[in-house]
Amino acid sequence: TGAITLDPGYKNSGSCKSEITFLDGEEGILRYRGYSIEDLADKADFLEVAYLLIFGELPNQAQLDKFENDIRKHTLVNEEMKSILEGFPKTAHPMGVLSSLTSALTAFNPKSVNVENEKEMYDAVCKTMGKFLVIATWTYRRRMGFPLNYYDNTKGYVENFMRLMFEIPTQPYKMDQKIVDALDKLFILHADHEQNCSTSTVRIVGSSHAGLFASISAGVSALWGPLHGGANQAVLEMLEEINNNGGDVAKYVLKAKDKDDPFRLMGFGHRVYKNFDPRATIIKKAADDVLDALGVDDPLLDIAKQLEKVALEDEYFKSRNLYPNVDFYSGIIYRAMGIPVEMFTVLFAIGRLPGWIAQWKEMRTNKEPIGRPRQVYTGSPSRSFKEVNQR
Ligand code: CMC
Repeated sequence: TGAITLDPGYKNSGSCKSEITFLDGEEGILRYRGYSIEDLADKADFLEVAYLLIFGELPNQAQLDKFENDIRKHTLVNEEMKSILEGFPKTAHPMGVLSSLTSALTAFNPKSVNVENEKEMYDAVCKTMGKFLVIATWTYRRRMGFPLNYYDNTKGYVENFMRLMFEIPTQPYKMDQKIVDALDKLFILHADHEQNCSTSTVRIVGSSHAGLFASISAGVSALWGPLHGGANQAVLEMLEEINNNGGDVAKYVLKAKDKDDPFRLMGFGHRVYKNFDPRATIIKKAADDVLDALGVDDPLLDIAKQLEKVALEDEYFKSRNLYPNVDFYSGIIYRAMGIPVEMFTVLFAIGRLPGWIAQWKEMRTNKEPIGRPRQVYTGSPSRSFKEVNQR
């Protein structure tokens, strides 16, 4: 064994070769399978993008219809899963519940997928896309004490998300196409981001040949943290706090710069983007458009814009190339849609699902070896054991 190169946080280590997502952090470029994120967010819909990420090409109409239909066939979730859901206290965070339920799906799908078998892999993809959406909405129904809803086969995937979340027997849900379109775009923007923390987790768990549901469950847990997907909830809570304290954004910028204060400006900074995050640019504009279209006037949007302005003019943020990231404005849109803050990261997970599946499939198809990093040992040298009465 040669010398080990130490790279905490894998800041400079490539873990794999991948054909899925191209990211240039200096130029602020993001492409899925060669298509720019701007084009996809503008022209494609979420299931088209999911298909593109997972199978490598944009689907033609027949492939897309089939994909949508095959996903529908997998939207019934085993009844026994409901008792698992009911075992959680209503106060449980939806991300913890989602990770557990995803893992619980392994009980009902014990056979591991043979990635070499195209039909088997395709079925596993559709099953994961169908069941994950449904159980994601269950986490909210449980929290609210609502009865569970079934997927409506006459409606699209994103429409179903809203229905599954909000339709209750006493209050029929009125679908707002503007919300569906905006949510579709947000899911596209979250769909993949090469070797981020949760995706690397999915790949590394899958590299031991653990199944797709087990790997995705681990990805959900990784996404939950506030430095990763959990930032969308943390941003909104931060904006609310600033608003409740009189809207003094400069004070929070000062706090974020103070190295003795653990506070960070949530939704700012990125491991790879050192110029701007192209997703944030699209989402900032979408926030204006969606709030306008819905007739919502949210003081938190003004706070966010002021905060961005003050931070971007500040030497601390400039010298460290810290810009708003994907999570900075997304929560304001979710809030305008009536989505509760503790569900924000679950929405990120639904968006990221096709990316996790695509990366898992690629990793297994390429027959990658088990992920097993090395370390530099800094502990005690060899010493002799002392009996308990000698310590
Ligand atoms: N507020 C204040 N200072 C910051 C921030 C911030 N949000 N982000 C980075 N810094 C500082 C950091 O203290 C360090 O300063 P110094 O060089 O003086 O020690 C420097 O900038 C570099 O930061 P780092 O922590 O070494 O960078 P990283 O690549 O390890 O971390 C990050 C990237 C995204 C975890 C970090 O920027 C952060 O914690 N941001 C806030 C949380 C957030 O918004 N996360 C969402 C990320 S994008 C979507 C996603 O992945 O889900």
